[in-house]
Amino acid sequence: QKLDLELAAIEKGGYDHFMLKEIIEQPQAIFDSMRGRLDLDKLTITLSGIEQYAEQICKANRIVIVSCGTSWHAGLVAEYLIEELCRINVEVEYASEFRYRNPIVNEGDVILAISQSGETADTLVALENAKSKGAIILGVVNVVGSSIARLSHAGAYTHAGPEIGVASTKAFTAQLTVLELIAIKIAHIKKTIDEQQYAHLLKELSAVPDKVQTILDTQLPKIREIARKYKDARDFLYLGRGYNFPIALEGALKLKEITYIHAEGYPAAEMKHGPIALVDENLPVVFVATKDRYHEKIVSNIQEVKARKGRIIAVITEGDEVSKGLAEDYIEIPDADEIVAPILSVIPLQLLSYYMGVERNQDVDKPRNLAKSVTVE
Ligand code: G6P
Repeated sequence: QKLDLELAAIEKGGYDHFMLKEIIEQPQAIFDSMRGRLDLDKLTITLSGIEQYAEQICKANRIVIVSCGTSWHAGLVAEYLIEELCRINVEVEYASEFRYRNPIVNEGDVILAISQSGETADTLVALENAKSKGAIILGVVNVVGSSIARLSHAGAYTHAGPEIGVASTKAFTAQLTVLELIAIKIAHIKKTIDEQQYAHLLKELSAVPDKVQTILDTQLPKIREIARKYKDARDFLYLGRGYNFPIALEGALKLKEITYIHAEGYPAAEMKHGPIALVDENLPVVFVATKDRYHEKIVSNIQEVKARKGRIIAVITEGDEVSKGLAEDYIEIPDADEIVAPILSVIPLQLLSYYMGVERNQDVDKPRNLAKSVTVE
């Protein structure tokens, strides 16, 4: 037993938990997911699996993304990305709903599966059904040789390495990275972005690992302090707009998984249609409010919560004095194009959940009732 304990400690590489180790590994996981693919000097993206199907993807009337859990949140970011950059209609489906409702799938439709494990039962069966109707199946999968990887016609692996913590962290940011590469590549082929925008996006994406490192190097003590302060809250609300809306959902999911605190994620403007009724001096509201085209709008949402005495925790772009002035607590992240910003803005939310789980003495690597890979329906 002593040996088992020692082995476990070695595997954690000196960290208390796999979850923290995997959060800290994200600059590497993101870099590895771009390595050999994105060449900033030559301004190229090489994704051999995708290239083979590039013509069909460019011609597709729609792309259907099928996934579960955190991977579904990556799908929502991809919806915004692909629609904006490639001008292709995208639908994002929970695999469990898609498989049972007799969806319309036509020959040549493109189905994009996102899965860390490559073994999630609902995703797998949804894909098998679509494949039998003649759809092209693309996979963004982390585990090489997994069932979903084998079932896909083509795809691009994420290179996050093994993820042990049940709550997904580095696999998510690796998924976002690969989805960015796919969207930028297809947009470039389709000429729905110009050369200047293409070069700009490649530069922004390449800068992400260093920016994630900056968050890890500078914000940890502050996030831990915030975690201590709010650890006994009963409910949390997470709000974001645009590319940060799925990140609000992911922040709320992480908190539920790791701390068992009830949390809801919402598009910030939707708050008026219900959640605002919950706001009082006891409710922490996490705003993902980085500087993007929606910034002014989300600032007015922050003001609305403040007027009702909600406790505002904001993830903001460094130097954003307006948001600093409004928030009770804030976490600063480096400036980035809004298209890559979700890869950065999710990091503080992962850490907030992790530290709150630790403060509450929860088993953060193996939360109750949850499985790393849900291979039964
Ligand atoms: C489980 C895991 C989640 C994961 C989801 C989808 O619920 O606990 O972390 O996001 O399954 O898994 P997949 O392996 O398909 O990405």
